[in-house]
Amino acid sequence: MKKSVLVCRAVFPDVLERLAEHFDLETNQDDVVWSREELIAHLQGKAGVFVTGTQPIDSALLDACPELKAVCSMAVGYNNIDVPACTARGVLVSNAPDVLTETTADFGFALMMATARRISESEHFLRSGQWTKWSVDAFAGSDVHSATLGVLGMGRIGQAIAHRAAAFNMEIAYTSRSPRPNLNYTYYPDAASLAAIVDFLIVITPGGAGTRGMIDARVLKALGPDGYLINVARGSVVDQPALIDALRDGVIAGAGLDVFVNEPNVPEELRAMPNVVLTPHIGSGTKQTREAMGQLTFDNLRAHFAGKPLLTPVDA
Ligand code: 8YV
Repeated sequence: MKKSVLVCRAVFPDVLERLAEHFDLETNQDDVVWSREELIAHLQGKAGVFVTGTQPIDSALLDACPELKAVCSMAVGYNNIDVPACTARGVLVSNAPDVLTETTADFGFALMMATARRISESEHFLRSGQWTKWSVDAFAGSDVHSATLGVLGMGRIGQAIAHRAAAFNMEIAYTSRSPRPNLNYTYYPDAASLAAIVDFLIVITPGGAGTRGMIDARVLKALGPDGYLINVARGSVVDQPALIDALRDGVIAGAGLDVFVNEPNVPEELRAMPNVVLTPHIGSGTKQTREAMGQLTFDNLRAHFAGKPLLTPVDA
């Protein structure tokens, strides 16, 4: 008998087709944003769930859905899932690493370039009919090539970003939980000491309690008035009110932000600032990559219900 699986958000048709072939499926192809109560109601009687990085899976939810045996997430970050609570109840968890590494690194680099070269701001100027003459200082930005890049979180995506930066002749430094002796980049023990020596600080570290508020007023001050912050990790890593103050007061030069504290809500202050490039959490968002992430999530579900080990398990 086919296992009962809930797919929480819309997925590409190919992935949906494969899921429907193997599971007794309930889907949310209309992409309705379910409340927690609605999610629990839809999960009743389901043995597996296909989630994205946005549905919180915690102990109370697990207790309300005792038949659930596998939580397979179409995201590399799993800060939305209480993994120890899952493990304690014998619920297996998988994420979707690797398939998004290069795409997310492309995006982080693009966001850094767009921020430094004021692409959104200048495009808005042109589209709104304000371009009437050439001037020497119009949208004068900052060079990315040959600048110093600080990478906060030197995991797979951080390394892929550094690889791109090397081709741009950038000086590369980083901080992470511990130094990586196999990498030829300068290690700094914490975010503040790294921020003090870089032009661009790019955040690509996991979210959750361990990194909450890591980029605070002190780190932003160390980054300084010519420095830029780029965040393609999780909004929680940055103290958002402190960032808004720093951008408003010229403590830093600008920011490129793909993630926010309370998505999809983005503070009006940020939306009004010209020195900020804002995107709606699309770091992994290419058709190819989102499809590969969906496929991997399906493969994990399929492996689990075929009695095989998960391909990309997350352990407590
Ligand atoms: C996902 C992400 O697209 O993988 C992650 O951790 O943040 C994004 O790539 C998003 O979480 C939806 O699943």
